[in-house]
Amino acid sequence: MTLTSDAIIIGGGVIGLAIARALARDGLRVVVLERNATPGGEASWAAAGMLAPQSEADAPGPLFDLCLRSRALYPDFVAALWEETRIDAELCPAGTLLLAEEENEVAALQAKLAWQTAAGCHAEWLSPSDVQALEPLLTGVGALYLPDDWQVESRRLTQALLASATAAQARIACHCEAVTLLTERERVIGVEAREERWLAPVVINAAGSWAARMSPALLRLPARAVRPIRGQMLALQMPLLARLRHVARAARVYLVPRRDGRLLVGATVEDVGYEKQVTASGLLALLSGALAAAPALAPAALLETWAGLRPLAADGLPLIGETDIQGLFCATGHYRNGVLLTPITAEIARCLVRGLPPPCDIAPFSPRRFSESDMLCSAPGTS
Ligand code: GLY
Repeated sequence: MTLTSDAIIIGGGVIGLAIARALARDGLRVVVLERNATPGGEASWAAAGMLAPQSEADAPGPLFDLCLRSRALYPDFVAALWEETRIDAELCPAGTLLLAEEENEVAALQAKLAWQTAAGCHAEWLSPSDVQALEPLLTGVGALYLPDDWQVESRRLTQALLASATAAQARIACHCEAVTLLTERERVIGVEAREERWLAPVVINAAGSWAARMSPALLRLPARAVRPIRGQMLALQMPLLARLRHVARAARVYLVPRRDGRLLVGATVEDVGYEKQVTASGLLALLSGALAAAPALAPAALLETWAGLRPLAADGLPLIGETDIQGLFCATGHYRNGVLLTPITAEIARCLVRGLPPPCDIAPFSPRRFSESDMLCSAPGTS
């Protein structure tokens, strides 16, 4: 069967869905090819949803700027999704505490305070008694408070994006794995899946950790240009009288309190290929880190454990932009910032596809930085 549309998006995670929504709302006929039974079941479902450019960054630079820009889009993004779908993505503006558990962690946090305030961001040092007053559960020798690093409920965000994209007539084709890129004179003309042939002048690779795995030649990426980094996580039921209000990050774990009383504890960072197993050592590390930062959590019920795969590009920067094949774009490699970078990535992709100037400089994120020679040398499908 051959089907025709204006744009094909490979991957139905938050990035792919947000791009589909943006293009479909502009009137384009869009199809999302999702290899799983349902969209959003990989990194988007696993994510903690922290909107945390300041927490994550160790230095200023293009990625930090992109993350700040995307964070600024979030209030309107979530409000628009609510208007379109009545699904509340639970944007929580309580801010984040970076906890110093030991004196030897203070200097690095104060250095972050210095460069981030110099960069015009809000950040404030809290004494141990300030920390106690703000979050009685936490024990530490001080904390860096980042009032603008918020969080969103990533599973609800995924549902909202899916509902919005579908309402805008984007077609979601599940169980549909792209196997071959169709080109004509260095221009993309479509994608072949196992049973269908999808024709379109635009193809966007938003396949997350699978972006370079399907076939390097298919997507014009070296096989290791994007690789999966496992993050194991768990959820505790916060005791009624012992609830966190802010996202808290300590040296070994982060704690993300949800509106429904769940407390997410994350995450391991493991280069183990496409293995999504939850392990004894992973859970031990998470639980011991959580109880060191907040000993009062000891009686909390363990509700859920899971693992997801973050897509990491070889140089740590996302891949957003056109490849050397006209009409073939990448939107992947967002690593620890996938949920955060969703609105800006969708806006950039929309501009590129529509032939409009992107809202910021995207040169540092060009997929073309991975050279053709790398591509030709690399073995397909290795992890
Ligand atoms: N963004 C947090 C993580 O990747 O674990």
